[in-house]
Amino acid sequence: MAIVSLIVAAADNNVIGKDNKMPWHIPEDFKYFKKVTLGKPCIMGRKTFESILDMLGKPLPGRTSIVVSRRGYAHEGAKSASSLEEAIEIAKKTVGQETDGEIMILGGAQIYALALEKELVERAYVTRVHQEPEGDAYFPELGPEWQEIERDPYDGFSFTVLECAKT
Ligand SMILES: NC(=O)c1ccc[n+]([C@@H]2O[C@H](COP(=O)([O-])OP(=O)(O)OC[C@H]3O[C@@H](n4cnc5c(N)ncnc54)[C@H](OP(=O)(O)O)[C@@H]3O)[C@@H](O)[C@H]2O)c1
Repeated sequence: MAIVSLIVAAADNNVIGKDNKMPWHIPEDFKYFKKVTLGKPCIMGRKTFESILDMLGKPLPGRTSIVVSRRGYAHEGAKSASSLEEAIEIAKKTVGQETDGEIMILGGAQIYALALEKELVERAYVTRVHQEPEGDAYFPELGPEWQEIERDPYDGFSFTVLECAKT
């Protein structure tokens, strides 16, 4: 059975983005993100996909990108879904060919909120960035059903993993 996880870098005030970009540059977090997501189907909102295109000029290499959009978004090298549920169904079909059956939700704010509200996520990889920047995109506050199972502190940020007791 495939497990659905999310991955996010969120400041202590839950800011995750400003002007469709990340408000910090943490190379260790990019490495961690790559390690956790490589080879896995990655679901993201259309705006997050576009911010990746701005950064890399192409979709994330070595991962199947599944873009959630209400308006039939099409881009070479990415699959498109008109709802989060449809994106998860598409991802389930690809996990058979990819590593360890984990489907990753990469954000952004709208897609994290939707996934948590609908209780579609079992595990959360949260890089806590110990800053309080200004922003316009936020990660939702996780409820008490989310238990931290790992914490790896570094200078200025901590890698944490949480699991949901409900799902
Ligand atoms: N720090 C982090 O880890 C992290 C990770 C990811 C993103 N971010 C940041 O988050 C920000 C982007 O987040 P965002 O909330 O603005 O955008 P987003 O969640 O990436 O994408 C929003 C888009 O998703 C589609 N969508 C949303 N709800 C939908 C639904 N119910 N059904 C179908 N499609 C739906 C819509 O696309 P259409 O308009 O095409 O219909 C909507 O415009 C950026 O600042 C980015 O840098 C940060």
